[in-house]
Amino acid sequence: MNILETENLVIKRMGIPVVREVNLVASSGEISVLLGANGAGKTTLLEGISGIIPIASGSVELEGNDMVKVSAGKRALAGIAHVEQGRTIFGSMTTEENLKVALHPDASLEEIYELFPELLARKDVQSMMLSGGEQQMVVIGRALVGRPKVVLIDEMSAGLAPVVVNRLMKGVRRLADLGLAVVLVEQFANLALEIGDRAYVMRRGSFVYEGDCATLGNDPDQLHHLYLGDIGEAA
Ligand SMILES: Nc1ncnc2c1ncn2[C@@H]1O[C@H](COP(=O)(O)OP(=O)(O)OP(=O)(O)O)[C@@H](O)[C@H]1O
Ligand SMILES: [Mg+2]
Repeated sequence: MNILETENLVIKRMGIPVVREVNLVASSGEISVLLGANGAGKTTLLEGISGIIPIASGSVELEGNDMVKVSAGKRALAGIAHVEQGRTIFGSMTTEENLKVALHPDASLEEIYELFPELLARKDVQSMMLSGGEQQMVVIGRALVGRPKVVLIDEMSAGLAPVVVNRLMKGVRRLADLGLAVVLVEQFANLALEIGDRAYVMRRGSFVYEGDCATLGNDPDQLHHLYLGDIGEAA
């Protein structure tokens, strides 16, 4: 079932469209992977969906309800969770305190420890002492227990080793398997395509590919052409 749908979405920065006529779908139980070179417009698209920045035209619908005029706070309450690029946890609080901040009354911390058992042994540790990978586990776990309908994840893997990213990806897959709709922006394209369902590649604000992850993941030449080949060009 489609949880999130954008139609002809246009978002401007300083008056210039950086997201152009984008149609994105995220469904319950699925990961929509969003790829693209630096500056393509991925973060801007997620910020428009969660309401951090205004939408110039087009629509954002959550379960068929128009969100365009709804504030960011109300969109979060309606079920749009946004794990922002570069935004992590409260370093002076323990792991468990960080997790409790987001806990919905219907949810439990055990769900997170089941998702990432590594965190249980670290629950009373000050978050600033956690590794980068463990900190991102906290961020993803927090998204889970807020009971959202859709989770937008923006480059959770920046600066992490591929083996750690792989572990996080498995956690993200589990979020989808639990029934959430996930939109995943990721620079480790191959790892994201392995766990994802629907793939989008963005270039200069527009989608230049829309299809399934397996097809794109099995066609490295196309992936290179669509995405990796764009790095170094002005996006
Ligand atoms: N705060 C801002 N003010 C003005 N322009 C911005 C701002 N943030 C981003 N832009 C511009 O908007 C365009 C899209 O940027 P965006 O950050 O959405 O790309 P991205 O795909 O997330 O890139 P990255 O992979 O580097 O995170 C770029 O041309 C960028 O320079
Ligand atoms: Mg970005």
